[in-house]
Amino acid sequence: MLNQLSLKIGLLFFVVIITVEIILFSILYTNLVNDRVDDVMGDLLARGNTHRDVLEENYTSSTLEHVAIMESESDFIVVITDRNGEVVTSSNPMEPEMTAVIGHTDDDQVPDEGVILESDWADEKYVATDSPIIMDGTHSGHVFMFADSDHIKEIISNLSRQFLIIGVITVILTIITVIVLSKVITQPLVRMKKATEELNRGNHEVELSTSRKDELGELATAITHLSKDLKRLKNERNEFLANVSHELRTPLTYLKGYTDIINRDTTSEEDRIRYTQIIQEETEHLAGLIKTLFELAKIDQNEFAIKKEKVEFDALIQKIVERIYPAIEERNIEFSYSCPNNVIITIDPERIQQVLLNILDNAIKYTPRGNHVRLEVVQNKNEVLTIISDTGEGIAEEDMPYIFERLYRAEKSRSRSKGGSGLGLTIAKEIVELHTGRMEVESEPGEGTAFNISLPKEDTYEKGIID
Ligand SMILES: Nc1ncnc2c1ncn2[C@@H]1O[C@H](COP(=O)(O)OP(=O)(O)OP(=O)(O)O)[C@@H](O)[C@H]1O
Ligand SMILES: [Mg+2]
Repeated sequence: MLNQLSLKIGLLFFVVIITVEIILFSILYTNLVNDRVDDVMGDLLARGNTHRDVLEENYTSSTLEHVAIMESESDFIVVITDRNGEVVTSSNPMEPEMTAVIGHTDDDQVPDEGVILESDWADEKYVATDSPIIMDGTHSGHVFMFADSDHIKEIISNLSRQFLIIGVITVILTIITVIVLSKVITQPLVRMKKATEELNRGNHEVELSTSRKDELGELATAITHLSKDLKRLKNERNEFLANVSHELRTPLTYLKGYTDIINRDTTSEEDRIRYTQIIQEETEHLAGLIKTLFELAKIDQNEFAIKKEKVEFDALIQKIVERIYPAIEERNIEFSYSCPNNVIITIDPERIQQVLLNILDNAIKYTPRGNHVRLEVVQNKNEVLTIISDTGEGIAEEDMPYIFERLYRAEKSRSRSKGGSGLGLTIAKEIVELHTGRMEVESEPGEGTAFNISLPKEDTYEKGIID
């Protein structure tokens, strides 16, 4: 429970918000209390000053009496003294606290506009002001005003009560906000946690709501993508394993079948030689297939060695053409090629030869007898572009996205009539990419196919080179 993210976030928010609120409320409270006390003191002094003004105008016993009677009905107390500090009149009976305030007054230090004598409402019984009566330029007496401190205390306790009510409401609202907020933040995280647990359990069909545009939304989208990728990988792996076992089983079935026939006494010597030859071809095919699968596994683990060196490209092309000539002759293909003789390129010649042979092999294999196959090399400043085109059967549009995939063959029956296993283009593309080159294909069903392989001349990027 204590480890729950929503609780942790909630507590953190709560502590931070409450601390900020306490600081702000304290400042506001102190300011308000000071203002109220200042107001009361200001009023008291103003009241005293008014009495003083009246008395300066008309200092008679009836005016003095009048002032005293007026204040005896109010919350305040007035005490009027003469120039010697003797009490002339007061609205209420004198108390020791009042006498003490009056006794401590120093005539000369009291400014003409009056002064606050006592403002300590918390500890003293009365707060007090002094307004000097000035007649003929000298202090002729004082009007002292007193207000009971309880009066101020009451105002302050009213204020405190209001603050308490507002404080409680604020804390309740803060708690509600924090609960809602932490839920809003943690709910999608909890959902994502559940989704990843589902992924872990092998259920790759998680669909998280991705309508949010914030980081949580992005995370949900990423998890949904991840689940789709996992599902795709799982399907691909299953398909790949099915294809591999098919590819391995077929030649093995042939091998078993032919060995059985050879071992039969009735088989003629002539047939034996023919079947032995087939067995040899199948074994070679099988060995080649396993070698390529092994190479692809090495590429996947970044352990595929590419040994680059400076190569005269036209010499390499010449060698390749010589290698494919028997097949061209046999299938009666019209073959032409062109390559400038000054092309120097940094590549792994063995691997690039493998790439070009694979593509030429396809061009020859998937082209009806008598058709054209052309190999053309052109170069620009940084790249060498090799185009291998044929006027063969072409590749159907629906097959195009998949031809570079492992063991993919357009011919779904996986018949052995053309002998391929669907790895030639996969390894070719991987090798070209290890050379930081590009391989593209254009094809028109019934018209022909063209593979464009562009390779950088210089070894500008070290990716994939493990010696
Ligand atoms: N030039 C081409 N013309 C028509 N189809 C082609 C051509 N090149 C490739 N394809 C199609 O792409 C598929 C994949 O080619 P790839 O070279 O990877 O496999 P393969 O030739 O069947 O077998 P492998 O090369 O491993 O012996 C082929 O099965 C074929 O259907
Ligand atoms: Mg091939």
